Amino acid sequence: MNIEFTLNGSVQKVTITSVERALDVLARQCGIKSLSGTCFEGQCGNCLVLFDGKPVYSCLMPAFMLRDHRIETTEYFTKTREYSLLYSELTKEGRSLCSSCHSGIMLMGMVLVRSAPTPTRDEIFRTLSNVHCDSISPDDFADAVLKTIQHLTTARKIP
Ligand code: FES
Repeated sequence: MNIEFTLNGSVQKVTITSVERALDVLARQCGIKSLSGTCFEGQCGNCLVLFDGKPVYSCLMPAFMLRDHRIETTEYFTKTREYSLLYSELTKEGRSLCSSCHSGIMLMGMVLVRSAPTPTRDEIFRTLSNVHCDSISPDDFADAVLKTIQHLTTARKIP
């Protein structure tokens, strides 16, 4: 079956089978490198994408559901100022993000940094819970997100 959807701002036309997962189509056919399947059960978060702006596990989503929807992956944000600021906050004081969760962590961070109003710490923890990651503590993640929002707000006020 042929479907069309928007991926990271561009229209994609792909041919899929009825048994394919969204993850397979995005990673193999569309060449999205940030996605990997580790658990295929909605546990690890390594396959997270934004589906019309909401985080979903692409390993659990049939590919046909992509049709006519808007999908964003980490690649969509990597060249933005928000991404650089958040990355630098997250990796302060010698911290590093492990390669498998890196993409999910940054994607959830982008959701939070771009959300309005400023998220509460509980909202940040809930969003982070989409990713199973031992490389960063929820408190460090929340601090990094809130600091990034603060930097961006300050920058917007400077004429
Ligand atoms: S592969 Fe989708 S959540 Fe682990």
